[in-house]
Amino acid sequence: MMPDGYYSSKKSDDLCEDVCGQATRGALSMLRLRCLLRGLDIKTIIFLLVIVPASFVGIYLHGQKISYFLRPLWQSPPKPFIDIPHYYHPNVSMETLCKLHGWGIREFPRRVFDAVLFNNEVDILTIRWNELYPYITQFVLLESNSTFTGLPKPHYFAINRDQFKFIETRLTYGTIGGRFRKGENPFVEEAYQRVALDQLLKIAGIEDDDLLIMSDVDEIPSGHTINLLRWCDDIPPILHLHFRNYLYSFEFFWHHKSWRASVHRYQMGKTRYAHYRQTDYLLADAGWHCSFCFRHIKEFIFKMKAYSHYDRVRFSHYLNPKRIQDVICKGADLYDMLPEEYTFKDIIGKMGPIPHSYSSVYLPAYLLNNAEKYKYLLPGNCKRERG
Ligand SMILES: *[C@@H]1O[C@H](CO)[C@@H](O)[C@H](O)[C@H]1NC(C)=O
Ligand SMILES: *[C@@H]1O[C@H](CO)[C@@H](O)[C@H](O)[C@H]1NC(C)=O
Repeated sequence: MMPDGYYSSKKSDDLCEDVCGQATRGALSMLRLRCLLRGLDIKTIIFLLVIVPASFVGIYLHGQKISYFLRPLWQSPPKPFIDIPHYYHPNVSMETLCKLHGWGIREFPRRVFDAVLFNNEVDILTIRWNELYPYITQFVLLESNSTFTGLPKPHYFAINRDQFKFIETRLTYGTIGGRFRKGENPFVEEAYQRVALDQLLKIAGIEDDDLLIMSDVDEIPSGHTINLLRWCDDIPPILHLHFRNYLYSFEFFWHHKSWRASVHRYQMGKTRYAHYRQTDYLLADAGWHCSFCFRHIKEFIFKMKAYSHYDRVRFSHYLNPKRIQDVICKGADLYDMLPEEYTFKDIIGKMGPIPHSYSSVYLPAYLLNNAEKYKYLLPGNCKRERG
């Protein structure tokens, strides 16, 4: 039992002196600890008992955030792109536009192939194909019955094919069976599907110097950009396209540089379908990239589970529909991550939710012509359909 005096600090100081001087039995070890603690500054005690355990819990819960915050220390930025200025106005002739870019004009336009791997983005595909329709020779679409993370999925395009009658005569459609390898890196399944897309392009009849658009479905080149590239001579053999990047809808203009899409002058035996950096050239302001732009909450959950960044779903509550709805309306991050930037200034500057935008000025025409149907993509309509 502890003597009463323990509860008075003054008394205990005396006791401590006693004990430190003349050791007695019983509460001896406890008293030793007190002596030891007394030797330490109160701030040090708080540090040891509170801050240290809290830091371990914090690192456990937020390790990814901490490492992202420290990115400037462990990763240097990629080599900068060579930005190609982009000129456009509907009233400026093609000859003048080509000349502004330092290119000549051709007698007839190149043929253009638009090739995509399809998951389930029916709405975005409709907007994409309507935007590009006047300029595309063949629409090439491949879908698998497996997601990149090896989950089975229906052939969503086949199910919705009757909505795409307007391109049916220009469609080359293919399916591929998933490999369903458990625990494999999702980038392997993705690469496997892209190789199959190369085969499908040959079936579609692509030839040397035809233009090939390599992009995800949600990376939509503007029609006038593709028109420019098919009419001008001497464009670079490979050109990345810089897109205005949006998150959840065109309400959230995201300061995140979208550059992965590219346009190639096809070379038989050499051109391979890819979605990583393939050249230093980047054409400015060439379209829209609408990330996670889904109509239903369940599509957010499917995408979070099914594609290449499943490792970012660190806690099961990230998949809670109510949380997802709140995150969408705030313009916050679904995975609660820090910006992927390479300087502290950029990380801090881009932290927190994306500000709301009230501009629907430069958007795909098909979207504005069918605004009621695609309302959820326009500013002021963040509430998603349940189910
Ligand atoms: C574009 O051209 C049309 C017809 O030539 C002309 O009426 C119109 O004023 C022009 N618009 C602009 C913005 O220059
Ligand atoms: C996926 O497609 C392949 C090829 O058509 C088929 O053999 C396989 O059974 C399918 N798997 C699933 C889970 O649907």
